[in-house]
Amino acid sequence: MQQAPSKHIQQSAAAQMSEKTAHHPAKTLKIGIAGFGVVGKRRKDCIDRRPDMQVVAVCDRSFQGEGTLANDVRFYQDYRRLLAEDLDALIVCLTNDIAAEVTIAGLEAGLHVFCEKPPGRNVEDVVRVIKHERRHPSLKLMYGFNHRYHESVQEALRILRSGELGRVINMRGMYGKAKLMTFNQPDWRAKRDIAGGGVLLDQGIHMVDLMRLFGGDFTEVHSFVSNSHWGYEVEDNAYALMRSAEGVVGMLNSSATQWRHRFHLDINLQRGSLILGGILSGTKSYGAETLTVVQADPDNDQGDPKEQLTRYNKDASWDSEIATFADCVLNDRPVQSGNSNDALRTMQLVFKIYYADAQWRNTYNIPNPDVHE
Ligand SMILES: NC(=O)c1ccc[n+]([C@@H]2O[C@H](COP(=O)([O-])OP(=O)(O)OC[C@H]3O[C@@H](n4cnc5c(N)ncnc54)[C@H](O)[C@@H]3O)[C@@H](O)[C@H]2O)c1
Repeated sequence: MQQAPSKHIQQSAAAQMSEKTAHHPAKTLKIGIAGFGVVGKRRKDCIDRRPDMQVVAVCDRSFQGEGTLANDVRFYQDYRRLLAEDLDALIVCLTNDIAAEVTIAGLEAGLHVFCEKPPGRNVEDVVRVIKHERRHPSLKLMYGFNHRYHESVQEALRILRSGELGRVINMRGMYGKAKLMTFNQPDWRAKRDIAGGGVLLDQGIHMVDLMRLFGGDFTEVHSFVSNSHWGYEVEDNAYALMRSAEGVVGMLNSSATQWRHRFHLDINLQRGSLILGGILSGTKSYGAETLTVVQADPDNDQGDPKEQLTRYNKDASWDSEIATFADCVLNDRPVQSGNSNDALRTMQLVFKIYYADAQWRNTYNIPNPDVHE
């Protein structure tokens, strides 16, 4: 199962664009963006580069009143005012406390919805969204697990699926930053009632999602979760040891005490390794994005195998992810990567990690995420 996970990263943005134009030469999707902070603005930039999507309105409670931005984009404070616009799709870039509520409101208003990770504050939020999604089978719902769309990750997946290195044996993932709020981010990320969790739910969720993507679902989880360094009511470190039903073992550390920012995922397979090192981000603080493909020959290479390193210099993930969403909506294709099932499974694994530490579970009343199986 692990060498051919069921999720697929879809075709390149360019391929999607040409197909789309062939099917829908004139259609331009009218887009609303709920939450116009750092990521809301970034999503708008991606959409502004596309001829088949147009941002017509945005909302954020930090706006003063209502009015018009450049290019006649209308702005509101309240998301309900945004939903009263004539829209085709909604992009949700809000804080975690309101992400599920607005996603549901978008679906109930008949809109296709793209929502940033995390899909909510807890597993229950995702379960609620899925109930509403089922009532609207013609609408597309996609989640912003944008690390799936990095070129290094897509190439590693392609090699995994080719089978040339065999099946996955184990994975070691590390994703860390130096504080819970970096680069002057607002402080909601440290507030349990708004964020629902700390560094694991905010940043580590990308690594959890990638480990699922490469290794399948983990059924057994052991963990330590701690807030002992920064002392917020959300975690500043999570350490997990996990095993899938097929025997793949994953080790994870998600950290807000990693003084030099670091992203690293070792995937060890039967005949070599795929090593993702660094990830391109707006801040460039996670180093160069590289994929090292190791071809092992243990009888002859004396532990010094052949390696090929590719360095990626452009982050196309944001554009490529939005291109996939546009393709699903315009060409009525199912969302295959980053759908609500991925959101549910990834959130369940995050909460299995919280739940597996008895002290953390009791302190913060973490419910058993498996009740939603
Ligand atoms: N995919 C990624 O790699 C990635 C990266 C960063 C952030 N994110 C996600 O994007 C989302 C937004 O993050 P951000 O960094 O842009 O945060 P942000 O704080 O910059 O933006 C959130 C915005 O939501 C607004 N808001 C909050 N509650 C509101 C309400 N009730 N009504 C209207 N507006 C409201 C805030 O005023 C703020 O401007 C989060 O879910 C975050 O996890 C994803």
